[in-house]
Amino acid sequence: MKSILKKSISFTILWIFSSLLLLLAVSGCSFESPQKSGLKEASPFPIGGAIEIRQIAKDTVLKKIIQENFNSITATSDMKMYNILPQEGNYNWRQADSLVSFSTKDNLRLFGHTLVWHSGTPEWVAEKGSKDSLWLAHFLKEYIQTYVGKYKGQVAAWDVVNEGFETQGGDYRKSLWFEVLGKDYIANAFRYTHEADPEAELFYNDFNLERDTSKLNGVLSMVEELKQNGVPITGLGVQMHLRMDIPNALIRESVRKMAATGLKIHFSELDIIFNTHDDTRKGGVQLYKELTPEMLKQQAAKYKEVALIYREEVPESQQFGITFWDFTDRDTWINPFFGLNDWPTIFDENLKPKPAFYGFKEGLQAE
Ligand code: G3I
Repeated sequence: MKSILKKSISFTILWIFSSLLLLLAVSGCSFESPQKSGLKEASPFPIGGAIEIRQIAKDTVLKKIIQENFNSITATSDMKMYNILPQEGNYNWRQADSLVSFSTKDNLRLFGHTLVWHSGTPEWVAEKGSKDSLWLAHFLKEYIQTYVGKYKGQVAAWDVVNEGFETQGGDYRKSLWFEVLGKDYIANAFRYTHEADPEAELFYNDFNLERDTSKLNGVLSMVEELKQNGVPITGLGVQMHLRMDIPNALIRESVRKMAATGLKIHFSELDIIFNTHDDTRKGGVQLYKELTPEMLKQQAAKYKEVALIYREEVPESQQFGITFWDFTDRDTWINPFFGLNDWPTIFDENLKPKPAFYGFKEGLQAE
C-alpha cells in the first residue's frame, strides 16, 4: 500500500514539473538565469559600471547588479590623485588595492580613471606646482610611474588625461598643468604611462564631444598631433553625459568622426538626463516635475539608439566598450552636482531595471 502511495506521489510531482516546463516552453519565456540575461551576455563588447569600492562592501544588491551585467569597472573617485596622494609622500593605496582584488576575484576588467585631471589635483600639488615648474614636471613623471608601475598588468587601461579641453569650444583647458607645463604635459603623461605599463591601453577622455563640434575638432586635432609625434595614445573616451534633447544625428556624426581616428573608442560615463544644465555646478534647469511612463519609454528609445550608434559607427576592432556612470537613479552624481531632480540611469531608485535597461539591451541585440 505504502509503495503504491509513494509511486503515485512521485508520479504527481513529475507530472506537475513536466507540465510546468511545457507551459514555460509554450509561453516562450526563457528559463534564463539572471547571469544569462545580463547586459554583458547580450553585448559583443565590454559593458562597464562606475562604482566606489565602499559601496560594494556594504550593498549586496548593487554588487549583484555588477556581477550580472558588467565585465568592466571604473572607479568614480577612488583612483583619482586627491585620493591616491592626499598629502606629499603619503600614498594611499587602500581603495585602489580593494578595487584590484574585487576585479580580479570577479573577473572584471579594471579601468583606471584618472591619472591627470584638473579637478582631481589635490591642493598641495597645485600649491607647490604653481610656484615650481621643474618640481611639477618631475612630480608628473614620478606620480604616474609609481602609480601605474604598482598596478602594472592589473589595470587594463587608463584615462591618462581627463578633460584637458575647456568646457566649451576647442581650446586647451587653462588648468594648473597647462599653465605651468604647457600642452606637452599631455604628451609626456602618455609617454610616462606607456613606459610604466606598455600593455595598458591609454585614453584621452572628455565630455560634450558628442554635441560640441568645435570642442570635438579641437580634441581630434590634438589626437592627430599626438599620433604624428609618436605619442602612445591608443584610445579616445567620450563621457556621454547625454541629455534627451541632444539630436541622435549629431551624436552619430560625432562618433563617426571619433572612430575615424582609428583609436579604441570608449563611451566612458554614460547617463541620459531629461532636464538640462549649463555644465556648471548647481547649473541645472528643472524642466520636468515628475517622471511619466511616456518619458521612460522615450529614454529607453534613446539608450537603444546609443547602443546602435556605437555598434554601427565604431568598427569592431575599436570597440573598447560602454561604461555607465553611477548606474542607479539612487546614486547618480547628476542630482547633487546640478541641483536637479532627474532620472538619468538604467536602474531606478530601488535598483530595479528601468525600461532604459531593456532599451539599451535591445540596442545591443538588434539584428
Ligand atoms: O570620500 C569622501 C567622504 O569620505 C566624505 O565624507 C564625502 C563628503 O565630503 O566626500 C567623499 O568624497 C567625494 C567623492 O566623490 C566620493 O563620493 C568627493 O567629495 C566628491 O567630490 C567626489 O565627487 C566625484 C567627482 O567626480 C569628483 O571626483 C563624483 O563622485 C564623480 O561622479 C565625479 O565623476 C566625474 C568624472 O571623474 C569625470 N567626468 C564627470 C564626472 C561627474 O562629475
